[in-house]
Amino acid sequence: MDREFESIAVMDFGSQYSQLIARRVRELGVYAELFDCHKGVDPVRAAKPVGIILSGGPASVHEKDSPTINAEILDLGIPVLGICYGMQLMAQLSGGEVVPSPHREYGRREVELLHVADTPLDGLSGTLDTWMSHGDQIERLPDGFEQIGRSDTCPVAAMANRERHLYGVQFHPEVRHTPKGMDILRSFVFETCGASGYWTMDAFEEVMERRIREQVGSSRVIGGVSGGVDSSVMAALLASAIGEKFTALFVNNGLLRKNEQEEVAKALDEAGVKLEVVDASDRFLQALQGVVDPEDKRRKIGHTFIEVFDEVASQHSDADFLAQGTLYPDVIESTSFKGPSAVIKTHHNVGGLPEKMKLKLVEPLRELFKDEVRELGRKLGLPEALVGRHPFPGPGLAVRILGEVTAERLSVLREADAIFIEELRHAGWYDKVSQALAVLLPVKSVGVMGDARTYEHVIALRSVDTWDFMTADFSPLPHDLLGRVSTRIINEVKGVNRVVYDISSKPPATVEWE
Ligand code: XMP
Repeated sequence: MDREFESIAVMDFGSQYSQLIARRVRELGVYAELFDCHKGVDPVRAAKPVGIILSGGPASVHEKDSPTINAEILDLGIPVLGICYGMQLMAQLSGGEVVPSPHREYGRREVELLHVADTPLDGLSGTLDTWMSHGDQIERLPDGFEQIGRSDTCPVAAMANRERHLYGVQFHPEVRHTPKGMDILRSFVFETCGASGYWTMDAFEEVMERRIREQVGSSRVIGGVSGGVDSSVMAALLASAIGEKFTALFVNNGLLRKNEQEEVAKALDEAGVKLEVVDASDRFLQALQGVVDPEDKRRKIGHTFIEVFDEVASQHSDADFLAQGTLYPDVIESTSFKGPSAVIKTHHNVGGLPEKMKLKLVEPLRELFKDEVRELGRKLGLPEALVGRHPFPGPGLAVRILGEVTAERLSVLREADAIFIEELRHAGWYDKVSQALAVLLPVKSVGVMGDARTYEHVIALRSVDTWDFMTADFSPLPHDLLGRVSTRIINEVKGVNRVVYDISSKPPATVEWE
């Protein structure tokens, strides 16, 4: 691992916010990365960070086997900030005492600031609005530490040992519910640790590419590209790092949007990625014959994908690695946040492939959030149309066709979807909403065209606004825009005589209809 970049090490004790801490530090212009506490102090020492942050965590320092770290982490001569569990651990490792608190504190709390000069809280005064989430608290400070903040129920809400540059806060400065939290992190990073703040996405790209080269040596790496943002950015990064040694496989499952294969190939070509395209649409359609249950569809699609990918990939017998565009939210979904998409995502992508193919994984985007990935994509030369694209589910249009997936129904949905997206773009709404899609319903309804009675398909339009896709509101699209879309779909898509707009929120509805 190379570390010519000034960095902050975030020691991860399992908090759902650990990566958010790293991300906030990166927002300040300093590279930050997570270290697994189980791997001990050595990797941190080797990284030569300018500062260390001990994250929060769900455990109690009293529990047997609770995550911990050797006390020498506090003696490296590097400033340390402990957050929540991290502060309690710091106190315990330094000889203080942590006890279960009589009142579990969860939510907003006011912290009264005491003598905060020369600490990361320097410059703040009076009381501080904070976000707390803890069951233990510090009963006795270790020698050399001073209480610098307290709340009604938590005597040591912040502590400092100025001489050793060790600081702790019981609250979470990384979350937005602590409005001055960024000031504290900024002060720790720049004043306490003396960082200069020159980290940029260019630097990240350079570090990542070098790490990829170190990891894979002269082996071939195979990666599945779906046309979504994550896998495209992963592919562009791999191609930039190892050139011809990266093979980008695009499996056309026949469940794609209109012109998708051509558009993806062209966009990736601009970023130096040559796609190896496999047309397996017939095979997927066959696998989906007679299947109506949504989870069955996902399973069939997932299995077929693995089969096809495996067949094609095994022709590249020199491949030792499989690259995936896993992002940080995908990682936490499987650990801390248990949103519905956690369950959903196990069914698609290439789950199961690495074991089956005995390939080692390369996941260069694991530390990034979606917007950081988009920024990296732009740096790598991917066109805006691809980088700013709405998410599209792995099982594609199959989960937007309620009932059986057939070639005819796919074609109806594909055309309707293309019209909706085109009109959204024309009206300047595409970038304002988070995800927009059309759904083909399993019912027919009566209509009239000319003088004749019709009995045809219904298309539902769905557009949502959301920050994290775990909750979402329907987008308040203008009626004239919806009217235009409806008229065009009914006139231009054969077999559709009715269009409706979905005005449900998530929860209780989901974004996709299946
Ligand atoms: P839901 O429907 O769960 O969707 O509200 C939330 C987000 O996840 C996407 N989604 C999927 N993505 N495979 C995927 O890769 C799936 O099976 C799947 N189902 C839903 C959905 O498009 C939305 O962005």
